[in-house]
Amino acid sequence: MHVTHLSLADFRSYTRAEVALDPGVTAFVGPNGQGKTNLVEAVCYLATLGSHRVSSDAPLVRMGAERAVVRAAVVQGDRQQLVELELNPGKANRARINRSSQVRPRDVLGILRSVLFAPEDLALVKGDPGERRRFLDELITARAPRMAGVRSDYDRVLKQRNTLLKTAALARRHGSRGGGGDAALSTLDVWDQHLARAGAELLAQRLDLISVLQPLADKAYEQLAPGGGPVLLEYRGSAGEGMADAGGREELYELLMAALTEARKQEIERGVTLVGPHRDDLVLKLGRLPAKGYASHGESWSYALALRLASYDLLRTEAGEPVLVLDDVFAELDERRRERLAELVAPGEQVLVTAAVEDDVPQVLTGTRYAVSEGEVRRV
Ligand SMILES: Nc1ncnc2c1ncn2[C@@H]1O[C@H](COP(=O)(O)OP(=O)(O)O)[C@@H](O)[C@H]1O
Ligand SMILES: [Mg+2]
Repeated sequence: MHVTHLSLADFRSYTRAEVALDPGVTAFVGPNGQGKTNLVEAVCYLATLGSHRVSSDAPLVRMGAERAVVRAAVVQGDRQQLVELELNPGKANRARINRSSQVRPRDVLGILRSVLFAPEDLALVKGDPGERRRFLDELITARAPRMAGVRSDYDRVLKQRNTLLKTAALARRHGSRGGGGDAALSTLDVWDQHLARAGAELLAQRLDLISVLQPLADKAYEQLAPGGGPVLLEYRGSAGEGMADAGGREELYELLMAALTEARKQEIERGVTLVGPHRDDLVLKLGRLPAKGYASHGESWSYALALRLASYDLLRTEAGEPVLVLDDVFAELDERRRERLAELVAPGEQVLVTAAVEDDVPQVLTGTRYAVSEGEVRRV
């Protein structure tokens, strides 16, 4: 798929922007702080309903404006669709497809798919488990858009359950019998089931994703850094050892329920949910060692790139070519990794690259050039 037109209104630094795009490579070049990342961030927002730079929508709306609108015309095969999102921080966002009446924002998922490479990706390897969970869950949603609903169900249930646990913990500390504490405890069983239900579905998807991603990541790592692997993706679940071998959703549900029962006492003491996909990690191993804490800077970069390349490979085979976005990554890489990465992405149906200077764009990525300066996007 590829985007043929991108429109922004009050998104980030842009009051307005209209950018026509071609298939193949397009590079946005300009000094730092001029709005290059803002452009590609808008494309990725339409694909994921999130930004790789911020966790809330507020910074995405131009300072002083009330709402932002991002719109893209997307072509897949012989089908063209227009997706539009209106960002209303503090209120519900709105979405439209083909200018028709409103749909839920999550209904636009799947129309545009993207794989983003960004300097922030190093945190996939070096950062907290939350970074890797987000990586898995975003990819799960790109493979199966209905998982957006499961993820939001899970988050909602988790929040409710944590509130209950806090109430119970508080009541216990104040030594009160009956009242809030007991009521909270008696409803906890029901919330356990809700949590395990949504949690099992999320886990099943994560485990399936890891099993298909594993060989692709290993292959990509070998292409980027021959002989440097092997790469091994290991899921570390809070519900215990049996998880990787669990047959399916029902079994995972049972495992979660058992782990919740076991953790109940401790959970009430601490007032938080200690078991579930929100506590899990994906351990990235290079050879026999975890990459985090052991891999060199260059190896960590190769690992992060390999995960993104594997994502690209997977989406391409399962759902058709996603749009590739490389935000300021080439400047971060040494010559060898830079060239390898460029060769691997160059054949993509659409590749959007940003760079501070033309020299940072590898030679094989010839294509359309835009100069970005002071919020103006000009074809050169
Ligand atoms: N919500 C916003 N309102 C106005 N300006 C913003 C907003 N968010 C970011 N900016 C501005 O956008 C610029 C950064 O744009 P960016 O696309 O990240 O630059 P680069 O070209 O280096 O990738 C900064 O100058 C920042 O102040
Ligand atoms: Mg940038």
